[in-house]
Amino acid sequence: MISGTTQVLGVIGDPIAHTSSPAMHNAALAALGLDFLYSPFHVEPAALPQALAGMRALEIAGLNVTVPHKQAVMEYLDEISEEARVIGAVNTICNCDGRLLGYNTDAFGIIQSLRVDGGMEELPPRVALLGAGGAARAILYALLAQEEVEEILLLNRTVDKAETLADDLGGEGRVVVGSLAEVGGIEEIGLLINSTALGMHPHEETSPLEDPACLHERMLVADIVYNPLQTLLMRQAEDAGARSINGLGMLAWQGARSFEIWTGVQPPVMAMVDAALEQFERAGA
Ligand code: ATR
Repeated sequence: MISGTTQVLGVIGDPIAHTSSPAMHNAALAALGLDFLYSPFHVEPAALPQALAGMRALEIAGLNVTVPHKQAVMEYLDEISEEARVIGAVNTICNCDGRLLGYNTDAFGIIQSLRVDGGMEELPPRVALLGAGGAARAILYALLAQEEVEEILLLNRTVDKAETLADDLGGEGRVVVGSLAEVGGIEEIGLLINSTALGMHPHEETSPLEDPACLHERMLVADIVYNPLQTLLMRQAEDAGARSINGLGMLAWQGARSFEIWTGVQPPVMAMVDAALEQFERAGA
């Protein structure tokens, strides 16, 4: 029930029509009976300064930030968390008594998903991360923060970009850079994470692994893609006897962390996952 005391949360992006965040957050707010609502806001790049001014003027309590604003939004905030500063992107803004504080919850999202959805209490010593874009940046930051991870193989089509990313995040000898084509020859990887868009709708029949020979039954394959829910990479993993998870968990856990930052309450993550799934079904119908 929306009343005079209801606080507003939302997500800004361009495009925004396909976001599943309103479904996830409103489901969690309803489950907990919190006096908030969560709305999508279409904000074109040129309107970003006005959108942030509007956030202050309207006393919007919190916003998620998605493509293409995650970097650009940083200059309009009053404070940026260490994590978001190093990752170089903000996906969550909290309006704290008129001060806009920027956070990045993607790193939390991937680690929590690996632990809870992937059943990895401890990450393995050797991890392969495919891709070197925006998503890879948050994931590499998250992996470097895990002491048990000794070596990260950062593999990308454009090797230069992987080198720049590894240098930026200061892997201190823990990051080995290579080309995507090299993954076939690598053994003893306990965890392989795909952060590229390969396999994502409408390119369902592509995989970052041309040769899936490196996959084995003692590993977890984590794809950050969640449309489709089972990617070609995940099917390759299954054929090799490896366990696999899709990106739905990371999506839900990063949202859950944002929710906690805004409300101070831990949301029911399974309700958020169910709401996202229902949203995908509606969108596909
Ligand atoms: P995101 O924010 O989702 O990470 P991004 O920053 O555009 O998106 O990064 C996309 C990633 O997918 C990059 O690692 C990109 O590789 P390049 O750095 O070589 O461009 C990777 N990628 C996209 N399309 C690809 C393709 N057809 N083959 C291999 N890698 C691809």
